[in-house]
Order: sequence, then structure tokens, then C-alpha cells
Amino acid sequence: MGKVAVGIAVACGVAVAAAAAVVIHRRMKKPGTWAKVMEIVKDFEEKCATPVSRLRQVSDAMIVEMHAGLASEGGSKLKMLISYVDNLPNGREKGLFYALDLGGTNFRVLRLQLGGRGRGIVNQQFAEVAIPPSLMTGTSAELFDFIVAELAQFVAQEGSDFEPTPGRQRELGFTFSFPVMQTSIASGTLLKWTKGFNINDTVGKDVVAELTKSMERHGLDMRVAALVNDTVGTLAGGRFVNDDVVAAVILGTGSNAAYIERANAIPKWQGPLPRSGEMVINMEWGNFKSAHLPLTEYDLELDAESLNPGEQIYEKVMSGMYLGEIVRRVLCWLAQEAAFFGDTVPPKLKVPFILGTPAISAMHQDTSHDLKVVINRFKETFEISNTTLKMRLVIVQICNIVATRGARLSAAGILSILRKMGRDTIKEGEKRQRAVIGMDGGLYEHYTEYRKSLESCLNELLGEEVSGTIELELASDGSGIGAAVLAASHSLYLGRDD
Ligand code: BGC
Repeated sequence: MGKVAVGIAVACGVAVAAAAAVVIHRRMKKPGTWAKVMEIVKDFEEKCATPVSRLRQVSDAMIVEMHAGLASEGGSKLKMLISYVDNLPNGREKGLFYALDLGGTNFRVLRLQLGGRGRGIVNQQFAEVAIPPSLMTGTSAELFDFIVAELAQFVAQEGSDFEPTPGRQRELGFTFSFPVMQTSIASGTLLKWTKGFNINDTVGKDVVAELTKSMERHGLDMRVAALVNDTVGTLAGGRFVNDDVVAAVILGTGSNAAYIERANAIPKWQGPLPRSGEMVINMEWGNFKSAHLPLTEYDLELDAESLNPGEQIYEKVMSGMYLGEIVRRVLCWLAQEAAFFGDTVPPKLKVPFILGTPAISAMHQDTSHDLKVVINRFKETFEISNTTLKMRLVIVQICNIVATRGARLSAAGILSILRKMGRDTIKEGEKRQRAVIGMDGGLYEHYTEYRKSLESCLNELLGEEVSGTIELELASDGSGIGAAVLAASHSLYLGRDD
């Protein structure tokens, strides 16, 4: 052996000895590390438990808040906002209408040619654009100008297969998926931002006026005929094609629900009772909070460090924006307290919101025998490549705990709506008409395990007979379509001859 080779062999020997010393040192410093891992995971699982008894308590508390929110403005954490939609679409809507759907990291613009009298949508086109993150926390004018520039470009591309009525201004349904206190069907002030948006100068302003001002700046000649929350749009879009739709739930970046309420059950409504006797209520259920919610220290820390501490607590345990972040926080604790990934906490694991819900959905649903998806996601997201199968099983278990809790809590929310509408029981001899709940949002659409868990929990809560009368139906893009249809039913030109 030459000198150099001997040198390397000695150096390697030293390195191996040093590594062994480190391992021994760590083992000595943290005795029973795996036991500690198991202890942390078990404790987390227990704190996240959602047995039926607890879900019923959550639902009872939500119903109390629903009544309080309907009784007076500010009477509850549940805003129970009046949508000014007292007539849902009936399929006779006709003409060319636009929609602008803003509520998450992307926004969509749509144009729909409605055929009238049951002919439905005869032609449609849409475009989707990502919102640059800097605009989510910038100024109101910057955000609206960005959106309107895209809208103007989209309108300019309108082809001859769409038929605007000559001499009429184009009309738009504006889906704005944040809490808005409506003052009419086409006006309303923003109460607060959610879901990572935080633009101070929009709060307290009429968002339709903001949009209109920007359209004027861009020379876009268009009238906002309806302002709707995405839940209300989904309900209307659902009703356009199916008379049995009575409520809508969004499970996406954020979460919320809308349902049809009897107008005379809304004490805070000051106006004349609508002819239909009904009013769609935007619950803003994301802001629900109750001592019965199974919250853990990870949730409390996430909330405290969020853009809106103390707000949207229900949303923060069940919606797409937060599920991945809860999992990351648990993993971080495991790394810190039980050396789950070795001596140090991997730096990327400390980055808030680096783990998205699509990643936990993919890992949770990994069916490969060695959990390859988990291996790859950990490499891509955290640059961690030393996981063993045993560790990956723990990771999947954490995803499962977080998703199951979220799904079951959303089922409790749906139960509350059905109870409020008197749809949770069937009297002796009664033939109950089926009720459909329009569901939208990426979490519901793409996270199969979440959806399955929600559906089986709802069946468990309702019992077999009632479950048979309730259907959850995916209404993809329902919110944009619904807004365009509501623009049609609130058109300035309604009733005028073509
Ligand atoms: C908003 C709601 C919206 C929901 C789903 C929540 O954060 O407050 O207005 O309907 O997200 O998009």
C-alpha cells in the first residue's frame, strides 16, 4: 500500500470512529428515541380524535351560532351573511354573460352563452391565471388592475361564436370568495381577508366599486350585475341544472358553506320578505370556533403565527391551505424532540407552508410497498433522503390523522346545515325528497381519502335511512358558472325584448 492510500485508510478509520462516537453520544443523550416518537404521535392522535359524540357537540355548538348569527349582525363568530339571492336560477336564463372568480391563488375568467328555457350552457370558454404572491399583500388598486387587465384581454378575444346583444353593455357575475357584507345583489364591503390575502386598503371598501373603478381605468365597458361568494355561486350553479340542490360547501384553500334559509327565520333581515320566502345565507363557517373543536398545540401555534390570529379557526383545522402545514409542524416537533431525522432538524423542515396539501394527499395515498411517493416528496420538499420504511409509515400516519380530523369536522358542519333545514330526520310514513349538496374545491375533488372519510362520517352521523336521501355532488367550477347565471337573472335588461 502506498503512502497516500494508507493516509486515506487512516482518515476513513478516524471518520468511522468519529461517526460511531456521534451515534453513541446521540443515543446516550436521547435514550429511547423511537419510544419518544411513538409517544408524540400517540398523544397527537388522541388530541385529534373525533368520535361521533364529539362531532355531535360540535354540531350542536354550530347550530347555536347559526341562530345567533341570523338574529343580529355581529351576534356570532358565524357571520351568516345575507346574499341578496332570494331566487335561484331556473334554467331559463339567456344571453352572453361573463364571470370573474377570485378567491385563491388563481383566478378565473369565464364567458357563457346561456341558451334559455332548459337549453343550459350552449357555449363556454375560460382562462385561469395565477396571482403573483406579492399582489396578495400589496395594494387594492394593484390587485384589481392585474385582474382587470387579464379580464380585458379575455373579453377582447371574444369570438363570433358568442353573441352579445347589440346595444347592451356586457354584464359580469363577480365571485369574490372572502367575507363580504352585501348591501345589495351587486355591492358589498369586504369585512376581512382570509387564505393568505392581506391588503389593508380594501377592508371596509365596496369591492364592486373597486372593480368598477379599475375597469374604467382600463376602458373596459362592463357592468357588474351580481356579487357572490363562491359558496353562493356553487349553490346557484348547482340549481341551474338540478332542482334538488339546497346547499353548497367549498373545501379548497379555504372552506365555507351556503344554504337556503326561510326568510322569516332571519330576524336581522330588515327588508321586505322576498316573494320566494327564501334567502341564500353565506355562513362563513370557516370562522366557527368552539371549545369542542379538537385543537392541539400545533394548531394553536399555527394560528398564533398566521396572518389572521384568532380568526378562521375551523378553516385552519380542515382546509387545504393548512393541512400540510399542520403535518409539517408535527414533523418538526418529532425532529426536535425525538431526533426523528437525525441529530439536527433539517433546515427546510423549518420553512412554514413548504409542505402543501397536495403533497400530504399524495403521501397519504401512496400504495407502493416501500412508500416511494413519500421518499420522493421528502427529497423534493425537504431535501431529506434518509427515511426508513418505519419512519415513512409514521409520516403517512400523521397525514392520516390530520386529514381524518379535517374531513370528519367538515361532516359535522354539513350535519349542522341539514339539521337547521330539518333534513336530518324522516318522520314515520314520510316520503322524503332527495337533497343535494353541491361540493367544490380542490381538497374535496382531489384528496380521495379526505372525501371518503367525510362521506362515511356523514353516513355515520345521519344513519342509513336519512343518508339515502342526501347526496354530495361534485360541482366543478360551479362558483364561476353560478355567478354568470346569477348575473343573467339580475341583468339590467331582464324582461326587455331581445
Ligand atoms: C372565505 C369564504 C370562502 C371560503 C372558500 C374562506 O376563507 O372566508 O368567503 O367562501 O374561503 O373559498
